[in-house]
Amino acid sequence: MKIDSINIDSFKQIVFFTGAGMSAESGVPTYRGEGGVWHEYNWQEYACQEAWELNPEKVFDFHDLRRAEALKCFPHKGHDVITALQNTHPNVLIVTQNIDGMHQRAGSENVIELHGSIWRIRCEKEGWVKEDLITSNFEKRKCDCGTWLRPDIIWFSDMLNPDTVQQANEAISKCDLFISIGTSGVVWPAAGYPQLAKSTGAMCVEVNPEPSEQAWMVDDVYKGKAGEMLPLLFDV
Ligand code: APR
Repeated sequence: MKIDSINIDSFKQIVFFTGAGMSAESGVPTYRGEGGVWHEYNWQEYACQEAWELNPEKVFDFHDLRRAEALKCFPHKGHDVITALQNTHPNVLIVTQNIDGMHQRAGSENVIELHGSIWRIRCEKEGWVKEDLITSNFEKRKCDCGTWLRPDIIWFSDMLNPDTVQQANEAISKCDLFISIGTSGVVWPAAGYPQLAKSTGAMCVEVNPEPSEQAWMVDDVYKGKAGEMLPLLFDV
């Protein structure tokens, strides 16, 4: 396919905004597409505060499985393109809805994780958050204080972390190039980010094999997979 590449040097602040489709080519299932996690699992039983309060073991088992699945997968060419751009352009940020840490495994930095991470755990009673990266299973399910630990993930009905939201809003409202990749654009407030970027004057593009719910308002839609489109769109 012949497409014109984007000259990153003509932009001052660049935001890559990624969703589950970015990790799909690595083999991590999406949430809503074919084979999506929420077709197999009822999120009310696995991914909300009520579920964790009712049956923390079941919720931990589910998230241990997510960790094991992610560890079986590896970053693809699309992740590598973003990392390479970051290495040469300090003004490239990533805002992701993904919790799998795949951007960081590709060597990316400056990753704003809107929905938390399966590689962090927290104790709500003692008020700490820690990385837990050692094995596919969470190292501990209970804190030394006796309470259940909680994966540091934004589940359904949770408020987003206000500091993370502020960082994302700031990055997006300052950017002049916004590239949305692999998100269905149905989960808010993330679904409003292309609109936010557009309203502050950024050029907005989308990379997705299927147009997202927000495709109507972006400048260009590149219909295709992240791992195939990103190497065509950016010379690295
Ligand atoms: N490259 C780019 N996009 C792809 C690819 C690919 N190889 N494969 C699939 N997609 C697209 C699909 O067309 C779809 O638009 O990825 C999108 C995945 O959509 P969702 O599964 O809804 O994932 P996402 O938008 O990230 O979900 C948002 O919902 O359940 C919550 O917290 C969870 O972060 C998640 C949030």
